[in-house]
Amino acid sequence: MTSAKKILCIGAGYVGGPTMAMIASKCPRCRVTVVDIDPERIAAWNSDELPIYEPGLDQLVAAARGRNLFFSTDIEAGIRENDIIFVSVNTPTKAFGLGAGMAADLQYWEKTARQILAFSVSSKIVIEKSTLPVKTALAMERILNSSANGVFFDVLSNPEFLAEGTAIRDLEQPDRILIGSRETERGLKARETLAEIYAYWVPREKIITSNIWSSELSKLVANAFLAQRISSINAVSALCEKAEADVTEVAHAVGMDSRIGAKFLNAGIGFGGSCFRKDILNLLYLCRNYGLEEVADYWESVVKINDYQQERFIRNMLGAMFNTLAGKRICLWGFAFKANTSDTRESPAIFVTRRLLEERAEVVVSDPKALKNARMDLAGAAGRVSFVEDPVRAAEGCHAIALLTEWDLYRHLDLRKIFETMEKPAFIFDGRNILDHRRCFDIGFNVYPLGKPPLTHF
Ligand code: NAD
Ligand code: UGA
Repeated sequence: MTSAKKILCIGAGYVGGPTMAMIASKCPRCRVTVVDIDPERIAAWNSDELPIYEPGLDQLVAAARGRNLFFSTDIEAGIRENDIIFVSVNTPTKAFGLGAGMAADLQYWEKTARQILAFSVSSKIVIEKSTLPVKTALAMERILNSSANGVFFDVLSNPEFLAEGTAIRDLEQPDRILIGSRETERGLKARETLAEIYAYWVPREKIITSNIWSSELSKLVANAFLAQRISSINAVSALCEKAEADVTEVAHAVGMDSRIGAKFLNAGIGFGGSCFRKDILNLLYLCRNYGLEEVADYWESVVKINDYQQERFIRNMLGAMFNTLAGKRICLWGFAFKANTSDTRESPAIFVTRRLLEERAEVVVSDPKALKNARMDLAGAAGRVSFVEDPVRAAEGCHAIALLTEWDLYRHLDLRKIFETMEKPAFIFDGRNILDHRRCFDIGFNVYPLGKPPLTHF
């Protein structure tokens, strides 16, 4: 049995909250505290209405909160009292100065490092949980070990691979846990201390270790590879529409090759979420910094195809609806960047809504979990956008439905009833290919799937 551990996580977001809830749940001998500068977020973590929606999270938090899981705004006490510190603050794309629009903005990260240094009275293990550019640990070490007060910090890299919507399952049964450290005696000891925590529930063969730079880079590369698969199949979807092929059939045939694999081959309106875009931009900025222009161009093309796919969706709508959307009511089914989350960060729905408004359409936004975030994202567009949670009511009087998030509930709606309440000719643009297109067509809709021939009554 390993000894009890006092753990702190700085940053109570989509990663910090669920990850720490899992550690607290699986390691009853650990005492886990999560701190944040945002008092509203902490209050929500301490309430019955958590700040994020994630299937299974409510029960996990409720079982551990107050027992060995605590949420607090007292960052200073948290740092003083704990020995192992995860840092899970946001690392968005830099919006100013050198590297604007590409490099990672490390201000929150560095502020945290300085806070750890200022409030520590004993040596600690500091763990990079946020996704960071390679060599950030070096900067972290330099800041943390800059004071000659006898306190020493071991910096580890332990990137998080969870996906939103499946976070609890991903945390409980991870494909792997990656821990990068310095390959010194101290570094290896710190690595083992962290491995012991995961070993409470993750099989040892899935806890892999590496040098610290490989670990930092592996996270960026994993996201880049996943995003690249999506851009690849989305590029193919454009070709399928021209060649009268069906992208689902192509993906199925290609994915059955065990060397390629079937996952992450769903064509759609492009990837969203807070990380893919930011992490690829981060990767290509690194490449450019090292003078690897061709490598940077290669990764940039993944982002370009993603932008192209979103614009292509709008152009297809325009073309199908007689080249004008002005004054037409368009209902959006889904606003979250994927199903089973309330998160709308970088959601393609934001782009689609903006472009529809540019075309002077009226937009009705519907989503089962993300309307609160959607309202904030579209705050400037008041009056031309309305928000209706019920997808059936949202479609009433609309000229078209654009399905943007693959929520399961959209598969089970009474489409005949919906068709009757809409303007004619009625259109469906299925940006996720989840509807029964033949059935929609038989009801009377003009159907535009993605990467497949349209089914129209014209
Ligand atoms: P988030 O924005 O949801 O949460 C970050 C939190 O950090 C915020 O609540 C913010 O208030 C807090 N914070 C910022 N500066 C602070 C400071 N100085 N002291 C205390 N708290 C501070 O972000 P997230 O989605 O949880 O992502 C965090 C990191 O994890 C990012 O680097 C991201 O790339 C990475 N990541 C995210 C996911 C995901 O699914 N969201 C998955 C894997 C990795
Ligand atoms: C992604 C990765 O999957 C995680 O491993 C990683 O930890 C995380 O980013 C991160 O670093 O933040 P996430 O963005 O939560 O997780 O969700 P994904 O399931 O990867 O979906 C991302 C986007 O790609 C969504 O918009 C989704 O709709 C889209 N997607 C996904 C497709 O269009 N097609 C697919 O086949 C799969």
